[in-house]
Order: sequence, then C-alpha cells, then structure tokens
Amino acid sequence: MARAAAFAECCPLRQITLHPRIGKQQYKGEVDRESFAAFYSECAHPLVYNGDLLTVDDIRKVEEAYPRLEGVMLGRGLLANPALARAFADGTPLSSRELLDKVRVFHTRLLHYYEAHLQGEVQLLGKMKPYWEYLLPDADKKIKKAIKKATTMEKYLAAVSRL
Ligand SMILES: Cc1cc2nc3c(=O)[nH]c(=O)nc-3n(C[C@H](O)[C@H](O)[C@H](O)COP(=O)(O)O)c2cc1C
Repeated sequence: MARAAAFAECCPLRQITLHPRIGKQQYKGEVDRESFAAFYSECAHPLVYNGDLLTVDDIRKVEEAYPRLEGVMLGRGLLANPALARAFADGTPLSSRELLDKVRVFHTRLLHYYEAHLQGEVQLLGKMKPYWEYLLPDADKKIKKAIKKATTMEKYLAAVSRL
C-alpha cells in the first residue's frame, strides 16, 4: 500500500477514492482496514474512503479513525437506505417508518424517470427489480420475493405497495 501511495504521488490526481478490497474478493470477506490505514498515512492526495458503510455509526467510526479524510463514498449502504447521507448529516438515524417513506419517494421518482426514458413493461421491470437486491434489506422476505418474481408492472406495484 505504501508503494501504491508513492505511485499515486507522481500522478496529477485531484482526489483518490479507495475501496480496500482486491478485485478477486468482489464484495466478499472483510475490507482491509490495515491496508487502508497504510495508504492513508502515506497518501498526499485528498483521500476518500469507500467500502461497507451501511449505517450512520459506520460512517462516524471511519471519520474518527481517519480525520484527514476528504470524505466517504457510499455505495450499497445508500442503495439500502437512500436517506443514509441525510441521516448522517442530521446526526439521527431514521425510524423504520421514516425510512420506508423515504424509500417510497425514492422509488416513485426512479420509476417516473425510467417510465419517461424506457419503452415497455419488460424494460421497466428489468430496470426496477434489481434495485430490490439492495433496497430495504430488512423488509419482509415474502414481499421482496413477490417483487422480484413479478412479471407485470401491475404485480410489481401491488407487491411494492404491500411493504
Ligand atoms: C449496483 C452497483 C453498481 C456499481 N457500479 C460500479 C461502476 O460502474 N464502477 C465502479 O467503479 N464501481 C461500481 N460499483 C462499486 C462501488 O462503486 C463501490 O466501490 C462498492 O460498492 C463498495 O462500496 P460499498 O460497500 O459502499 O457498496 C458498483 C456497486 C454496486 C453495488
């Protein structure tokens, strides 16, 4: 990691975002915090941490551990909870009711966007269903299954409204 930081030193980069996993891991196993710490201590560029930040507490811990960070990047955490960044900024996690309301707003906007840009039910379902791999991970499993198996928009929306 120190070598990687030394290499980055020579590159005219505005910012570096580091997700401390190797490609082979994909999303499996732990993020390598030790390697991130080594890179952080050597890196002269503005640095952003990315990886496995799922809660407000996760974000706080990383910011405390690495005070010189330029920021954090949220991936799956933000897909699971589209209000995660807001909850972090406000300092209070959302209740499950508030979260559900936010997800509904997010889902409706997303749906309207794809309705305006895609043609046909099959395409629309193909775009919307994969979001449920991430959205509301703690939601009722039967409802999630009905969403994923829906073959028409009518069935899809009926399942979503049961959440
Ligand atoms: C649905 C999805 C799509 C992604 N697409 C890209 C991509 O196009 N390019 C990229 O560099 N990383 C992509 N990533 C990886 C993320 O940028 C991020 O590095 C990774 O998800 C780890 O962060 P997380 O633990 O916060 O999810 C994607 C991740 C997910 C879950």
